[in-house]
Amino acid sequence: MIEHVTEPGWVEVERYLTDVVVRPDPAHERALTSAVEAGMPAIEVAPNAGKLLKMLVQVSGARRVLEIGTLAGFSSMWMAQGLPDGGRLVTCEYLQKHADVARANLDAAGVGDKVEIKVGAALDTLPTLEAEEPFDFVFIDADKENDSNYLDWAIRLGHPGTVIVIDNVIWDGSILEPERDEANAPGIIRVLDMLGQDPRLDSTAIQTVGSKGWDGFAIARVR
Ligand code: SAH
Ligand code: DHB
Ligand code: MG
Repeated sequence: MIEHVTEPGWVEVERYLTDVVVRPDPAHERALTSAVEAGMPAIEVAPNAGKLLKMLVQVSGARRVLEIGTLAGFSSMWMAQGLPDGGRLVTCEYLQKHADVARANLDAAGVGDKVEIKVGAALDTLPTLEAEEPFDFVFIDADKENDSNYLDWAIRLGHPGTVIVIDNVIWDGSILEPERDEANAPGIIRVLDMLGQDPRLDSTAIQTVGSKGWDGFAIARVR
């Protein structure tokens, strides 16, 4: 874990954009409160990023979404809200406690029937999904050391046109100074290399600042 360092103004501006433009609904607010009450780390995506995920699901026309890293279901909730009727989200979470909190939050938001939470190490769950229909959209947001393994699975479980989003690809700039976080930075550097080199992908990466510090996300499309 790297501490979120925030410059003066970033958090206030994010709050303004959240209130004026993003307009989260009460279910989003309750999900954040429930995570704090359950003693979970506040490492969910910011509301403006959650809304972006919802809109990417919508504009890509995705009907089947895969998420790796559920936490309290905050990003899951946004993405499920972008699904059409009959759409489905499968989300992988290592900890049963996180899955329980997420289940309650997703049910309370009225999207529980669209979401299946698979508890266990994602690298154990992902091979079992080969038997299902391919996924149209994948959000990778779990243990960073496995980012490139998850990206490989996302491609294998996808199809030409599948959209893949990877969170936390800047990690407070530690991608240029990996000695600052030897647990996470090397995995992020590996996945950035793969995004640029893998012939199966077109990719870009975007830096962000705000309540989650200096970070960013990558977007790839399977060729
Ligand atoms: N996507 C969430 C945040 C996820 S935080 C949101 O934005 O709301 C990362 C989550 O990944 C944590 O809940 C953690 O328990 C889970 N995780 C860590 N290692 C994992 C693994 N190997 N398999 C599945 N989940 C894992
Ligand atoms: C951490 C994980 C995340 O997915 C995130 O967005 C921020 C922090 C962490 O493990 O510290
Ligand atoms: Mg994240």
